[in-house]
Amino acid sequence: MEKYSSIRLEITSKCNLKCSYCHNAKYANNAEDLSTEEILKLIRNLKSYYPINKILLTGGEPLCQPDLVKIVQEITNLKIKPDMVSNGTLLNKNFIKELDNAGLKRIRLSIDEIGNKSKIRGTSSPKDLWLKVKEIQENSNIEVCIHSVCSPNNVNILDKLYKQVVASGAKRWRVFDIGYQGGFANEYKNYNLVRYYKTYIKKARAILKSYIKNEVYKKLDIEISNIFRTDFLKLSQEDIDTLNLQKELEIKLKSNPCDYVKGHQLTIRSDGKASLCQYYRNCIFDYKKNSFDIAKTVKNKQPCTENDMFVKNVPYCKNCKYILMCSCGCRSRAEFFTHNIYEADPIACYLSKEVDKKIMPLLPSNIKNYYNAIKIQSGTEPKYNYKDVKTFLRSQK
Ligand SMILES: C[S@@+](CC[C@H](N)C(=O)[O-])C[C@H]1O[C@@H](n2cnc3c(N)ncnc32)[C@H](O)[C@@H]1O
Repeated sequence: MEKYSSIRLEITSKCNLKCSYCHNAKYANNAEDLSTEEILKLIRNLKSYYPINKILLTGGEPLCQPDLVKIVQEITNLKIKPDMVSNGTLLNKNFIKELDNAGLKRIRLSIDEIGNKSKIRGTSSPKDLWLKVKEIQENSNIEVCIHSVCSPNNVNILDKLYKQVVASGAKRWRVFDIGYQGGFANEYKNYNLVRYYKTYIKKARAILKSYIKNEVYKKLDIEISNIFRTDFLKLSQEDIDTLNLQKELEIKLKSNPCDYVKGHQLTIRSDGKASLCQYYRNCIFDYKKNSFDIAKTVKNKQPCTENDMFVKNVPYCKNCKYILMCSCGCRSRAEFFTHNIYEADPIACYLSKEVDKKIMPLLPSNIKNYYNAIKIQSGTEPKYNYKDVKTFLRSQK
């Protein structure tokens, strides 16, 4: 039985913005949204069944759920850590205070830009949002994490965004590489994606050089999807000395390729249907249909390939030299480009090589040594090379 410890709960499908790339764009204003009472019942029942320690409130836009504060309070009462990702536009002093009093531990503010007007996120003003980062930090106990989606629309300013994050005093910055779902799955052909990924690496290099040289890691945690996260800096010689490559490999082959599944995370949509990550819509559990009875819902679990697969089922990847760090990339992205969930993820193939060649040389020797130690020397090169990736990115699939 799955033991979920972290739930990503979409408490409404309503949103006050229309971000063109949004993976949930098509599902806004769903008439089947759960009522507040149903949401509270679901949370209580989940807590009594699973060892849940964190609930991330999302949507739609969580600030559009009229009983948000009540929901946060209930999560706190259940001794679960309430966390929230929001576009922040509806946040004001009072709202921040109410959320703080209800026990909200962290706000992940989605900000992809700098300047007065957004070119990506509808009517929002990046400048106002950056002021709100300050406001939350100065007037509440809520930790602020900046969530930036990197896409062809903003990759050119990624380094400027980094400087803004540092200046804002936020504690964490997570950069998500754009996902090929929802809005972006429709618009990706309008962009030069080959140039996008090249620039992504170039900007990440510039950011990491400054991050390490100026010891910014002492005050800011960062994660740049598929490239780097601050945790790497904590790797020690002991981690290398005690590494049992054969054992690590055995564990990897028997594990699910998806970090969300491995992290015991579940996404529950605003209508009470659950899927394994925000990018997959396949329903594994339907809580509403089963009257929010968790045992009954689990009994009526629906077949779900992405839940039941293992790294050893991904034929090429299991022998790849980068398998321990790449974990077959993203299954949803592999399926998007190749129409086969058991295929290699072409973007992950490209990024693994680029990280090896262009990012690793910049990092401190402890990381480089660990990275080299977990690279399978007898392994194969990634399945897709730069030429293949270019073909995928330019194809009209
Ligand atoms: C769907 S939104 C919901 C919460 C809230 N409305 C917000 O904007 O933060 C959650 C997060 O997903 C990100 N997101 C949306 N579409 C995405 C995509 N195609 N790829 C990667 N991240 C995406 C958003 O930028 C946001 O940080």
